[in-house]
Amino acid sequence: MFYLKYRPQTISEIDNSRVKELLKKILEGKSLPHALLFVGQKGTGKTSAARIFAKAINCLNNRPNSIEPCNHCRHCLSITASSFTDVVELDAASNRGIEEIKNLIRETAFFPMVGRFRVFIIDEAHMITPDGFNALLKTLEEPPKSAIFILATTNLEKLPKTIASRCLKVNFGQAKIEDIIIMLKRICKSENLKFKDEFLKLIARHSDHSFRDAAKILEEVSIQNIAATSDLENYLGIRGKTNLLEVIEKKDIKKTFLWIEEFSQSGGSFKNLLEEILEELRVQLLHKKGVMIDDIKTISLTTKEITSLIKLLMEAYQNLRSTPIESLPLEIALSEFYNKT
Ligand SMILES: Nc1ncnc2c1ncn2[C@@H]1O[C@H](COP(=O)(O)OP(=O)(O)OP(=O)(O)O)[C@@H](O)[C@H]1O
Ligand SMILES: [Mg+2]
Ligand SMILES: [Zn+2]
Repeated sequence: MFYLKYRPQTISEIDNSRVKELLKKILEGKSLPHALLFVGQKGTGKTSAARIFAKAINCLNNRPNSIEPCNHCRHCLSITASSFTDVVELDAASNRGIEEIKNLIRETAFFPMVGRFRVFIIDEAHMITPDGFNALLKTLEEPPKSAIFILATTNLEKLPKTIASRCLKVNFGQAKIEDIIIMLKRICKSENLKFKDEFLKLIARHSDHSFRDAAKILEEVSIQNIAATSDLENYLGIRGKTNLLEVIEKKDIKKTFLWIEEFSQSGGSFKNLLEEILEELRVQLLHKKGVMIDDIKTISLTTKEITSLIKLLMEAYQNLRSTPIESLPLEIALSEFYNKT
């Protein structure tokens, strides 16, 4: 799997530029923080960065000349293989109770066995139960000198403020399109894949701002020998987006439903389709209001119609999560739209 094969192994391989700089600063600092909180959307490199950090502070070869892990010494190698006794990983999604946290805290009392620091990585930290948080809080208040906690979460709001305020926060946010493209190019180079820039950009734009998702799409596409941008559009389910808008413009419900049926049959993604159309409608709206002066192909819908359509399609987008039939939310939205206008 590309996304595992190309998991970053050094600070400089972290393609998220802001995070890279911040982690460098932290590692170069005189004293290390005893607790870090990695916050960000899925697939933005929190777990990868936590492991790199653990390696960087336990590597036998790097200091004082470099903060990067060497990835060759026995400490680096065993951390990469998840077999290093001084790096403890806990997945709070499945081990969230007081007992698991208590076990972890008991561990923190021990000195490192071989490394310089014991690192406790708690993934999906927001899943810990209230009792668990309470127990953890005490340890975070008076942590043993040789212990470093790295909490990772996709959901900062669910983490108690008392916990968050005791950690140094590193915000991974969403993966930026430019950063994703850098990662894709890194993989292409090493896999000897030759794709045009616009091709990679399209992948990046449809990866949900996740490095992992982008790497997965690239892998799928290369396995299926997809090389033309139009085939990629097909694969991503965004083929004929303007087509659908053109059909909607004519307000012919039969043609609309036929279009949707065909799209559905060809395996298109309704999520991507709705995202594309909403973006298109937004541009149309801004253009009508004179905010965007770019030369675009305008559609004949009125401002009122565009806003009403946007509202209906946003609702359809939300309903995608719970619908038993993928095409249904879009069909309902459009038939409502035609009824109104
Ligand atoms: N900053 C990055 N630079 C390059 N590749 C990355 C980066 N972040 C993630 N990736 C890619 O995405 C994969 C998943 O990353 P990782 O598991 O670290 O993300 P995560 O933030 O922990 O996600 P989750 O919230 O789903 O656990 C990696 O194996 C790697 O291929
Ligand atoms: Mg993770
Ligand atoms: Zn090393």
